[in-house]
Amino acid sequence: MKKMLTIVGARPQIIKASALSRAIQAGFQADLTELIVHTGQHYDENMSAIFFEELGIPKPFFNLQVGSASHGRQTALILEGIEQLIQAEKPDALLVYGDTNSTLAAALAASKLEIPVIHIEAGLRSFNKAMPEEINRILCDHVSTLLFCPTPTAVENLRAEGFDLSERVHASIDAPGIYACGDIMYDNSLHFSELSAQQSRLLEEHSLTADGFILVTVHRNANTDDAASLHAIFSALLRIQQNTGLKIVLPLHPRTVKMMDSLLNPDLRMSLKNNENFLLLPPAGFLDIIALEKNARLVITDSGGLQKEAYFFQKPCVVLRPETEWVEIIENGNAMLAGADEEKIVEAAHAMLEQTVFSFPPIFGDGRAAEFIVGKILEKL
Ligand code: UD1
Repeated sequence: MKKMLTIVGARPQIIKASALSRAIQAGFQADLTELIVHTGQHYDENMSAIFFEELGIPKPFFNLQVGSASHGRQTALILEGIEQLIQAEKPDALLVYGDTNSTLAAALAASKLEIPVIHIEAGLRSFNKAMPEEINRILCDHVSTLLFCPTPTAVENLRAEGFDLSERVHASIDAPGIYACGDIMYDNSLHFSELSAQQSRLLEEHSLTADGFILVTVHRNANTDDAASLHAIFSALLRIQQNTGLKIVLPLHPRTVKMMDSLLNPDLRMSLKNNENFLLLPPAGFLDIIALEKNARLVITDSGGLQKEAYFFQKPCVVLRPETEWVEIIENGNAMLAGADEEKIVEAAHAMLEQTVFSFPPIFGDGRAAEFIVGKILEKL
């Protein structure tokens, strides 16, 4: 029996963890014990606890409760906490998701203690090191033993950084195993789509109809912490609302709420607040966000997760970033990059709304990434 620590900290990681926990419970319980460790990077009820409840994820075995802090302090607190946990628990492996400060800190702690690191969502690159996530993901990949790539582009990115892609009987930090496995979030979107249709009441509560609204999320620090970018994004959204008559539904990250209050010019803030077609909501749970994604006419977002989920549910998307890790979606014409440029956002939204025919080839696997990942972990470690 192998013992694995799975590290979660930020909202999307908690959601991703549910797919893997389900796969372990369904077929690998006799071979693998998973202990979920929450770093506490996200701590608000609707940024954390709600997902454990509605997605049926086992309660975290431990919560480091680090909370919000500067990047250096947050990373350091997690690094120290995970090091102690590893020493106490002596796991056979440690698994991390994505590119957050929790990911990097845990991967560093484990690799220095010679515990194999398993990285899910390996190989993604924005080629923009001004993003904290880009630094986190590059460093994490280079101390990992098993790297699970969601897309063919992610595998190619690793090759370009010097990783050897040959198949290995046993993987190690010096000779890591690299696998294209599809996207674990696709597993989740398929799995929870039906439950969302049964349980989510958000559309009725807000009188939202299919194709009658645009779903928008904004949380990246490059957008929220810069007054000009925040202003450009919200001015564009106001114009899109006025031009199309569609409602704008905005579940807001806590940081975005704070920054809108402190940075957005008061006239624009009042125009948004007085526009009854602007719905500013608290962060949505996973079942609610799926309901919104499935029924939106268009998705406008700076979130990596939402770009993909828009694709899973066959919706066009405008990306509020100058670049993306999910290049296949752009190349296939399902989304457009608009950055935080008011004119580009308005133009891209109109272009995507006017286009009627899209194709959605299976870029993200077959919805069984989690099963593949758990099988490989047991085979290779
Ligand atoms: C983090 C990840 C980002 C991921 C996102 C998902 C890093 C560097 N970034 O960004 O890649 O896309 O999670 O949501 O790890 N806050 C609250 N309550 C919470 C959590 C945060 O109020 O439960 C506020 C605090 O003011 C905090 C700010 O949001 O300072 C930012 O939180 P933080 O965890 O540092 O990063 P995210 O922006 O959430």
